[in-house]
Order: sequence, then C-alpha cells, then structure tokens
Amino acid sequence: MRISAPLAAALLALCPLAAIAQTAPSPKVSPKPVQRSAPPQVAQTPPMGWNSWNFFAGKVTDRDIRNAADQLVSTGMKDAGYIYVNIDDTWEGDRDASGVLHANAKFPDMKALADYVHSRGLKLGIYSSPGSKTCGGFAGSLDHEAQDARLYASWGIDYLKYDLCDLRTDVMTAQAPHDNAAQMRLMIAAYGKMNKALKATGRPIVYSLCQYGWDAVWEWGPSVGANSWRTTGDVEPNWQSIYSILNEQAGLAKYAGPGHWNDPDMLEVGNGTLTPAENRTHFSMWAMLAAPLLAGNDLPNMTPEVRAILTNRDVIAIDQDRLGREATRAYSDGELDVWTRHLTGGAMAIAVINAGSDRYSSHPFHLSLAKLGLHGPLKGKDLWSGKEITLTENMPLELASHDILLVRVPSPQ
Ligand code: GLA
Repeated sequence: MRISAPLAAALLALCPLAAIAQTAPSPKVSPKPVQRSAPPQVAQTPPMGWNSWNFFAGKVTDRDIRNAADQLVSTGMKDAGYIYVNIDDTWEGDRDASGVLHANAKFPDMKALADYVHSRGLKLGIYSSPGSKTCGGFAGSLDHEAQDARLYASWGIDYLKYDLCDLRTDVMTAQAPHDNAAQMRLMIAAYGKMNKALKATGRPIVYSLCQYGWDAVWEWGPSVGANSWRTTGDVEPNWQSIYSILNEQAGLAKYAGPGHWNDPDMLEVGNGTLTPAENRTHFSMWAMLAAPLLAGNDLPNMTPEVRAILTNRDVIAIDQDRLGREATRAYSDGELDVWTRHLTGGAMAIAVINAGSDRYSSHPFHLSLAKLGLHGPLKGKDLWSGKEITLTENMPLELASHDILLVRVPSPQ
C-alpha cells in the first residue's frame, strides 16, 4: 500500500515512535528454526466411536465404513460423542517391491475413504499387528513399522489398534522359546517400536494396544505410549462374557487415567443374545469403567431401543468424566454387585447390578449406603429412568435379572 505524503505526516504526528521505526536501521533477525509443535494430546477422555469387527468381522468393506460414518451422523451418535470409525482386521493387501503395503480389493482407495470420513466430521481408525501376520492371517507390520506408520499418516488415519497375533510365534517364542521374561521384553519392545514410529509422523494417532491383557499390560502400557490397552480376551455378545469381563476389571482402576485407559474390549450392545436389561448393564458398566466406548452393532438396522441406550447422554457423561477415575467394586452380596465411581466436582456414580441368573425374576435387594461410606438420604438421578431418586440406608430395590440401577449423586459429602 502506498501512503501519500500528507497522510504520512499526519501519522507521524499521531505516533512519533513511527519516525524512529522509519529511520532506525532494522535489526538483523535471524530466521527462527521451524519448530514442530507437539501434536495435540489424544484420548484425554476414553475414545468413542464404532469398530467393524463385532458385526462385520472379515466381511467389512469400504462401503460398510462409509455407511457407518453416515449412520453415526444420522442417528445422532456423532453428536453424542462417537467420533472414531475404526476398520478392524481384513483390510490389508500385499506389499509392493518397496515394501509399501496396499489395501486389498475391499478398500480401493484408503485416502479417499479417510477424506470421506473426515468430511462427515469423524475420524478414521485402522488395525495392524506387530507380527508378520494379523490374527486374521493378513499382512502385519513386523519390520515395516516406520513405513506403515507413515502410510497411515499419509492416508489421514487417526487411530491404530495394534493386535499381538503372530508376534508370539514370529518373535517371542522364536527368539526366547523358554523364557517368559525375555518374551515379555520382546513384546514390550515391539509395542514401543510402533509408538516411536507413530510419534515420528507428527500426526495425532490414538494408539490402542490389543494383547488380551497379558503380562499385566496396565503396568507397562503407558511406557510404550499406549492410549488404551485391552485387559481381556475377546468379548462375545452374551451375558456370561460381559459379566465375566466386568469382574476381571476389579482392581485395575488405579492404572487408568486421562490419556491411558483400561480397555475391556468393544461394546456388544445390540448384538447377539443380549436382552434390553443386559444391554443397559453392559453399557452402564463400560461407562463406569471409563472404557473406550466403541459400538460394534449393525448401525443401519439399529432398533430405537438400542439407539436410546448408546446415546444416553447421562451415562456417556459418566464415561467421559474429566477426572478420569475408573469405578471400583464397592461390595458384592450374593447376586448383588455395587460399584462406585468418583466424578468431577465431588459427584459420584453408584451402580447396583442384579447378576442373578434367573432371567425373568426380580429380586428385592437392599442397598447399603454405609458399606459405601455414605449416609442417606441422598438425592440423585436415576440415569435410566431419568427421574430423581432418593437413596436411603438399606432401601429395598426391585431389580430384574441382569438389570442395573445407575444413580448419579451430585455431591454426597
Ligand atoms: C483379535 C482381536 C479382535 C479382532 C480380531 C481380528 O481376536 O482381539 O478384537 O481384532 O483379532 O482378527
């Protein structure tokens, strides 16, 4: 812009320092080194989204992933917080002469798929193994870690599930056949290697470990940059599986927190033989456990009932509570289990489960507040009826088999 002489004079009158600036020799400014800022921290609350495995298993295609993205938007699940659309195993094709992995024919253009998912305001996740083969027998990342991490970043991938699978035979038992401690070191090194490779891309990518909860992964997961680690074998869509996984989580609360979560496996809400009560209990307890909430149901054919469970904002708010403190099992009394979780602002969530196996009966139970270190009466919100509830010492509860009472109490103290 050219400034006319009268205008320059007027400006100088208003701001004499400008004259100094005009005449003073400009100091030598050495160019600042370009600083790569650290990528934003991921998974400060448990990741939420949908994963292809529980419904599609090996049949998943590009079209299914696009449909899932569309459905997350149209069902309101995206607005409720389900952001990651994760492709599980069976997307992998062959490596070319330079070792670059290509997706198979089910996924013709991964970059275009990522662009599509991003255009819907969502993020895309992918799956691999530190072994030469994934659990489904597809190409793993062994000896191609940096190359694969760069490939994911170039596609625009936001989440990696890294599943142990063939690392056991390829490396662990091959290199240290009779030495469990050495096998564990090899496994930790393999997970650390991919962490370094992901970090080197500069792209924020959620790093999700899957090795079935072996070797107390919760103790070393954070040291390899894990944002979550599976604590169990594979979940199945039936009550026995859900309830036994739930009980395996007792004692793990202290290992979870913002950026690093215990992962009792993906949600089966809406799948298999789970009844409405079992779906509610499953979802409630995964929220109490501050678990990643990765739905795995048939989104286009989701019933309104399943959708209402998956999008219950009050229950999601328990999962996503910023304090990141996982629930602990307060006590069990016969068929009754009581879990509690501390929330921000001194609030508390109390979950009472009827684990009794008689599917159709309901039981009069008595909730002991004293065993929770609390005194009644306590006003709270029943998160499934949406109504206010007052908890009193030893109050009788009618709970159908496998159903749950989930209450949020503002600040009991
Ligand atoms: C393992 C994992 C599952 C799934 C399959 C895919 O069993 O635990 O969650 O990823 O592999 O092959």
